Amino acid sequence: MCGIIGYAGHRPAVPVVMEGLRRLEYRGYDSAGAAFARQGALRIVRAKGKLAALEEKLAQEPVATATCAMGHTRWATHGIPAERNAHPHCSNDAAIALVHNGIIENYQEIKKELAEKGHVFHSETDTEALVNLIAERRKSEKDLLRAFAVALREVRGAYAVCLMHCEEPETIYAARLSCPLIFGVGAGEHFVASDIPAFLPYTRQVIFLEDGEIVRATATSYEILRLEDLRPIIHEPQTILWDMQAAQKGGYRHFMLKEIFEQPRVLADGLAGRLTAENALLPELDALPVPGKLHIVACGTSWHSGLWGRHLLEHWARIPAQVEIASEFRYRESLLLNRDDMVLVISQSGETADTLAALRRARKQGAMVLGLCNVVGSSIAREASAALYTQAGPEISVASTKAMCSQMLMLALMALYWSERKPADNIDQTSAAFAPEQRRLLIALLESLPALLDAHLPEMHENARGLSRKYADANNFFYLGRGHCFPLALEGALKLKELSYIHAEGYAAGEMKHGPIALIDTLFPTFALALDDALFPKVKSNIVEVQARQGKVIALTNEGLDLTVDDRWVIPSLPAPLSAFMALPALQLFSYEMADYLGKDVDQPRNLAKSVTVE
Ligand code: G6P
Repeated sequence: MCGIIGYAGHRPAVPVVMEGLRRLEYRGYDSAGAAFARQGALRIVRAKGKLAALEEKLAQEPVATATCAMGHTRWATHGIPAERNAHPHCSNDAAIALVHNGIIENYQEIKKELAEKGHVFHSETDTEALVNLIAERRKSEKDLLRAFAVALREVRGAYAVCLMHCEEPETIYAARLSCPLIFGVGAGEHFVASDIPAFLPYTRQVIFLEDGEIVRATATSYEILRLEDLRPIIHEPQTILWDMQAAQKGGYRHFMLKEIFEQPRVLADGLAGRLTAENALLPELDALPVPGKLHIVACGTSWHSGLWGRHLLEHWARIPAQVEIASEFRYRESLLLNRDDMVLVISQSGETADTLAALRRARKQGAMVLGLCNVVGSSIAREASAALYTQAGPEISVASTKAMCSQMLMLALMALYWSERKPADNIDQTSAAFAPEQRRLLIALLESLPALLDAHLPEMHENARGLSRKYADANNFFYLGRGHCFPLALEGALKLKELSYIHAEGYAAGEMKHGPIALIDTLFPTFALALDDALFPKVKSNIVEVQARQGKVIALTNEGLDLTVDDRWVIPSLPAPLSAFMALPALQLFSYEMADYLGKDVDQPRNLAKSVTVE
């Protein structure tokens, strides 16, 4: 996820900006850049790769006198990591430089309008469209502030932006909509940044800018205005008491908790620009044939995403799918792939050795391989026939959380996308899921996910904390689910064992009676996924079977379901399988709270690695 910093003050600005970028490195990036004013012109320096590459270039520049500058680290989403796509971007007249975090959804329309007026584009980015739009509006508006506001009002999507103009070399402008941007108020200096650590050594006085706000700042003054009508807004700065490490965690105790709480944003980012009223937009797949059969291959949590996604790909898109662990797939002797088979490899890091080997094996056999990855430019993304990105931003905690949420979202979008491309006679007529009104409903539900999750996460966290205190002395746990909840049961069990080192097993609830139920006694609790779906009555019977053996049961369930258990944990109702987007964070929070309560190293569990690049 991109990082932004802007500075107007009394110190040499470029070193301040570079130090700020270093403190934003944890967000992940693949290129970086900086802008400062010199002799009435803007200097822009950019480099692909790490900050050291940018520093090397800046060492050749006379940066010492600049007291106003801005910088950017870019985490590529659409355009590839390259210097021409790195920020800052400059308007054609070289008067304005802009750094941007987010996605301008209507940038193609803007580019078209501007191209007709003679603007030329040198990158594949949406940011270049925006900076030229501001330059264009500057021609008719009385000042830069108005031009900036008028242009932003025309933009759809999400942004945090910072801007400099060569005629106002001591001023920074910034604005936000659905992307983080924080304003720092120092003594004779002001800052804007994507996150507080960027400027924490200089000031602890901050203003959390809100959506639809613009700020204009010099060393000695600042004003915050409403984008809508440019009326001033008064914000009292708050004092930040966190130390640097806590600040990088956004005030959360652990990266894992921060990442769990980022999931509403991950969902919103994943949906941005990906939906029409009735379908999913996945231009990355337009050139690929609709697969006759899918082989989904992954490891760990990504494998669980694949198991969940299979339900949607089969039910919505009517594409037969099998899901396999990469370390098994890569050595399977009898593996036969047909001409219209597609191998879908899922990997957050894009570097997992077994998944990469499975990809290579499939490609060697001539199969079409689609990579679903989070890290842009990773080995899997590069070696696959085509890549789709989950855009979850860097995941730092070893235990994967938001990456799974983003993978599930992309799998849902893929199922929706392919469902329309299958010949009509391949669609199961008994399923009403794809009548136009059902599609619209489904899309409305997908769009409601970020706000719904955001509203319920604090309460989920409270419930998880309460339950963890009650069950922390358990040495074993079963996680049970059926249908699309079975992969969630596997993931719940994995999270508990990897974080708290409590033995946990995920089972298909109907399989319990074939052996595992022998383990149940008063000390072996069960965490059941009993959501409001067609299989609820079956899960309920399985819960009763556990209770008949004196097993204690926590049930993750929905309002109005008739269920008597030791602990009933109600989460918001959504039609299956979208209810998984509410169940997953609850499972994550329960494991997080168990581990934290037991004093385990949440972000770095023993024996585990974030990216397993060896066999
Ligand atoms: C490791 C991580 C897991 C992850 C798995 C697959 O085991 O600890 O959290 O799910 O690798 O990683 P990938 O990057 O391929 O999704």
